[in-house]
Amino acid sequence: MWPLRLWHTQDVPLLLSITLYMCHLAGAISIQSPQRSLTRSVQDDVVFSVDVSCRGIPTIHWTFMSAAVSRSIGTWQPGVYTNITVDYRDRVKPYNNGSMGLSDLRLQDAGYYVVTVTETEGSSKDAGFVLKVNEVLYEDLQYLSVSALVLACLAGLLMLAMWLLDKAYRRIVAWRRRKQMPENDETELQPL
Ligand SMILES: *[C@@H]1O[C@H](CO)[C@@H](O)[C@H](O)[C@H]1NC(C)=O
Ligand SMILES: *[C@@H]1O[C@H](CO)[C@@H](O)[C@H](O)[C@H]1NC(C)=O
Repeated sequence: MWPLRLWHTQDVPLLLSITLYMCHLAGAISIQSPQRSLTRSVQDDVVFSVDVSCRGIPTIHWTFMSAAVSRSIGTWQPGVYTNITVDYRDRVKPYNNGSMGLSDLRLQDAGYYVVTVTETEGSSKDAGFVLKVNEVLYEDLQYLSVSALVLACLAGLLMLAMWLLDKAYRRIVAWRRRKQMPENDETELQPL
């Protein structure tokens, strides 16, 4: 019997532990996320990207937390139901892998976002994200006003240059006329 001879007694504990480890992995809830800290600007969209896996259908629950408040955003079970809080209903997009999209960001959206994954059996696991929201509108306005100021200065300089050129031109013309006039006078006067 070839196969039996390959199974040395000292290999059994190793094989057992590998099997146990794999069972453990299969049972554990896993939450994979490429990025836990995100920075966006006001009015931008953000996706808290996770890939959730567990035994059975996971229940995904997202909560928002900041220094001032802690509020529930929504709960869903992929393909079963989706329950998003009224405040977030038109801004939140739930994904089957547990990810959550939040659109039209406001300054008040900055804070911690926690996803809690619950298995059918009742065990759960969570992962947190940090979102920073930058106020760009003010910076944009500042940039715009500085640009407007620079443009106005340029326009002013251009107008001044044109005015000076115009004046210089008039003076040259007048000077030429004055220079030509005596000759004309002479030629006109000579025949007399
Ligand atoms: C989850 O699903 C969304 C939409 O299908 C995808 O954009 C995102 O990358 C996924 N996240 C991960 C971590 O796989
Ligand atoms: C949706 O969630 C709210 C609280 O987050 C709860 O009061 C309500 O009963 C839920 N609705 C459904 C249909 O599960």
